[in-house]
Amino acid sequence: MKESIVKDVNRIGKKILGTESFEQALTQVHHDKTTVGAHSLEVACTALAISRKLEGLKISINEEQMIRGALCHDLGILGRYDKFANNFVCCYRHPKDSVDAAKELLGGLTDIEKDVIAHHMWPVTPVPPHHREAYIVTLADKICAVREIIRSAEKNKAEMLKKKKHMRKESA
Ligand SMILES: [Fe+2]
Ligand SMILES: [Fe+2]
Repeated sequence: MKESIVKDVNRIGKKILGTESFEQALTQVHHDKTTVGAHSLEVACTALAISRKLEGLKISINEEQMIRGALCHDLGILGRYDKFANNFVCCYRHPKDSVDAAKELLGGLTDIEKDVIAHHMWPVTPVPPHHREAYIVTLADKICAVREIIRSAEKNKAEMLKKKKHMRKESA
């Protein structure tokens, strides 16, 4: 990821990144080998990278609101094993909980921020976003999830091969 993108996400998201909720997000495992916080940072950076390309095509994007929404989009997942019965329920309910958590964190949300957070699971959830910023985050979320799942599968495979090698050595 470009240094300027990471720098801008950290600058725009400073208030969110310094909160207790985001600290907690950095400790909750997500997609097997990452955390909710690290995933949210990656989604915000990927969304900003996509939006900079679109801005090059003269499509204007509200970067600040998009980044704030992206950083908060999965806050509703925090404590998932205590509040959601299973992954299916979590999948459908966490966007609403993320909206509530972000509202509390930021003292209210703009239309764009709310749209980004509430509809980031589309098309898994039926209601599509209304703003271009929300479509970008929806896309960035899917790209990051796929990347994280592939990374995790590769790490698990490497660990398995290492274990097998070790067992072979021990039995020789
Ligand atoms: Fe999510
Ligand atoms: Fe996500």
